[in-house]
Amino acid sequence: MFRWFDDRLGIAGWTRGGLRKVFPDHWSFLFGEVALFCLVVLVATGVFLTLFYVPDATLVTYEGSYLPLHGQRMSAAYESVLDLSFDVQAGLVMRQVHHWAALVFVAVIVVHQLRVFFTGAYRKPRELNWLIGIGLLVFALAMGITGYSLPDDLLSGTGLRIIYSAVISIPFIGPWAAFLLFGGEFPTEAIVSRLFVFHIMLLPALLLGAVGLHLAILWRQTHTQFAGEGAREDRIVGKAFWPSQVFKSTGLMLLTAAVLALMGGLIQINPVWTYGPFDPTRVSAPSQPDWYVGWLDGALRLFPPIEFTLVGVTIPSPFLPGVLLPGLAFGIMTLWPFLESWVTGDHREHHILERPRDAPVRTAIGVAALTVFVVLTLSAGNDVASLILRIPVEETTNLLRFAVVVLPVVFAVITYRICRELQRRELASLAGRPVAVRLERNEAGGFTPEDE
Ligand code: HEM
Repeated sequence: MFRWFDDRLGIAGWTRGGLRKVFPDHWSFLFGEVALFCLVVLVATGVFLTLFYVPDATLVTYEGSYLPLHGQRMSAAYESVLDLSFDVQAGLVMRQVHHWAALVFVAVIVVHQLRVFFTGAYRKPRELNWLIGIGLLVFALAMGITGYSLPDDLLSGTGLRIIYSAVISIPFIGPWAAFLLFGGEFPTEAIVSRLFVFHIMLLPALLLGAVGLHLAILWRQTHTQFAGEGAREDRIVGKAFWPSQVFKSTGLMLLTAAVLALMGGLIQINPVWTYGPFDPTRVSAPSQPDWYVGWLDGALRLFPPIEFTLVGVTIPSPFLPGVLLPGLAFGIMTLWPFLESWVTGDHREHHILERPRDAPVRTAIGVAALTVFVVLTLSAGNDVASLILRIPVEETTNLLRFAVVVLPVVFAVITYRICRELQRRELASLAGRPVAVRLERNEAGGFTPEDE
């Protein structure tokens, strides 16, 4: 059979090269793959859910088997999710596996991105894969938000209201963009079917296309690798694609699917029947979104209600925390590889990774950004924290405001110090021992300042 294809497509050479391709044998290179396998589970369970989900906001009276909501007026979309949970065989476990896979998917993407960031794997020639990666993160977040809002329950409806107020707060184009997205003033009949089109068609197409491109570029550029064991800028050390990487990845895929199935079968998530159908006149407390939008919610809760006028246009208070801040954060993240090489003047190719200690400034900045992200995410639960700590929510909020400003600086300084100390100790341990260092001459035949 292979010869048949080779006769017609001439694939022997490519396949032989592909089967021998070397993959670095380090656990930190597995996060990208786990994200990939979460995506496989998401698509498989998602297809099942679309067979029963009804993307319709028309009001109906519930007559299904969940008695506490009997006779309740609700949207056909919410009703179909109740039916999926109580009347469709395996419906509830599929819903749960899908939801857990979404939460884990975004978490693994973030960990993968942190791995790439703290080891400098985005440096030349991998800036393009970093840019595509940021796109993947944005698509994954959008998939999460649209999917999470499809049941049309009270909690996700509250989330949509917050998104609506952030969109409408954008100067000059806000009302137009909100109308385009929501089909009118929130809540609208159109939003459920629009979310459905985004969630099952537009965003998956963008996501799968970007993943394909991401992996194709990776295959073309090969992986980076850690220093040591004969690794060189022009030579990869590791295991061949066939058989070891294939079996390792297959095992990892089955393990990922098994863990997600266990979570879906054993741990309740998003019990929409306890929230009730969406009703714009009601909001329940505490209302927390899924973890990956917690930082946005937290920023809206912590930011003082600043309203200002710009060339005669009033800029409502959700704009700064809900639009400008996230825009800035994603802007800096996207441009990071270019900003770093511009500041350092380092435009060389890098296939050998750096350890966090080798780049103290980058590591300190990364830790500071992560601290802001964590404090903002925790701030999405300021009301819950106040209940637990038995202190007024205003005090909790002020405490978190203090933390989001001070903690990143403190942790950045500590991290920088730790990196420098680790470097110093390593150099001390090397003192007196001969070391072989490989230096590359630059175009002019000389050495860069660092190498000197
Ligand atoms: C759906 C989301 C994603 C999937 C499925 C994915 C998949 C992968 C896989 C399988 C690898 C090779 C193994 C590894 O290094 O883990 C990889 C490498 C890479 N990814 Fe991603 N990735 C995703 C998102 C991202 C994001 C958000 C970024 C950064 C913003 C990113 C940047 C990179 C870079 C720069 C490499 C090359 C790293 C190297 O050669 O060491 N990826 N990705």
